[in-house]
Amino acid sequence: MPRLDLPSRPRRNRKSAAIRDAIRETWLGPEHFIYPLFIHEGGEDIAITSMPGKSRLSPAGLLAEVDRAVQLGIRSVVLFPAIDESLKTDDGREAHNPEGLIPKTIAALKARWPELMVVTDVALDPYSSAGHDGLVAPDGRILNDETVEVLVEQALCHARAGADIISPSDMMDGRVGAIRDALDDNGFTEVSILAYTAKYASAFYGPFRDALDSAPKHGDKKTYQMDPANVREALREVELDEEEGADMIMVKPAGAYLDVIRAVREVTPLPIAAYQVSGEYAMLKAASERGWLDERKVVLESLMAIRRAGADLILSYFAPEASAWLAE
Ligand code: PBG
Repeated sequence: MPRLDLPSRPRRNRKSAAIRDAIRETWLGPEHFIYPLFIHEGGEDIAITSMPGKSRLSPAGLLAEVDRAVQLGIRSVVLFPAIDESLKTDDGREAHNPEGLIPKTIAALKARWPELMVVTDVALDPYSSAGHDGLVAPDGRILNDETVEVLVEQALCHARAGADIISPSDMMDGRVGAIRDALDDNGFTEVSILAYTAKYASAFYGPFRDALDSAPKHGDKKTYQMDPANVREALREVELDEEEGADMIMVKPAGAYLDVIRAVREVTPLPIAAYQVSGEYAMLKAASERGWLDERKVVLESLMAIRRAGADLILSYFAPEASAWLAE
């Protein structure tokens, strides 16, 4: 019988489910998820072709979907509105309409589920006729400081409606500090900021822009979202968002940026959220539909990997499905 003379045999620590369960380093549960939801004013739910299983939800459809999620143990949602073309303007003013879709929806959710953590996205793209996150000058430049003034109004509008966490996804400089000051000056010291700190100019957002009809009409987002080649730049953004008063920070996308999550984990004591974005969902879904991947196994593996890299929270369209599988 051949026998290697090995002082260490790592397989001994994998020999039974009891040992494996006892020494597992990372765990995943519904408490880690923030569930992103697409909403619109229309009376029907409209399926999103590039995100099988997900829809643009009507007000009634949203309540049904949140009910399903809450029963599966999900405690947090983030809202993304599809806005009628007729309400999109150059100045994105619908973003801070107190009678708008987002404030109405926050109120409806908090009335039914006071304990639900409601997160809102702050950026102008759903409301902008140009489809950009910021205001656009006639020559096509994105105007930073002018945009921040509008984002502040948008954040206040969400806070007044009862949002628990404001999440600026626009990547303008200085917006976290400006929003924090405005919230505090208006008595919203308890409203949190989850900053999209390291948000990359990624092609993985394609299906999201289909879902909301929010793709930029001209140009791209590379003057505000980060270059996928960079990681030191993410650390600089972390430092600034910490100084400006962010409560939590985000890395986005997640799956192709696990090294960024890890690098950020090593420098900040703040909780980290990572966003498994629409394109990540679409890839896993498409391969599973063809029978090329085992959906349940790859989805749970992808989510575990994001936690292992150092994320506390995960924004994922798989939140309800994954919660159901984890409970079995
Ligand atoms: C918009 C925003 C985007 C996403 C979240 N907020 C799209 C973009 O920046 O173009 C993408 C999320 C996803 O792809 O799931 N500010």
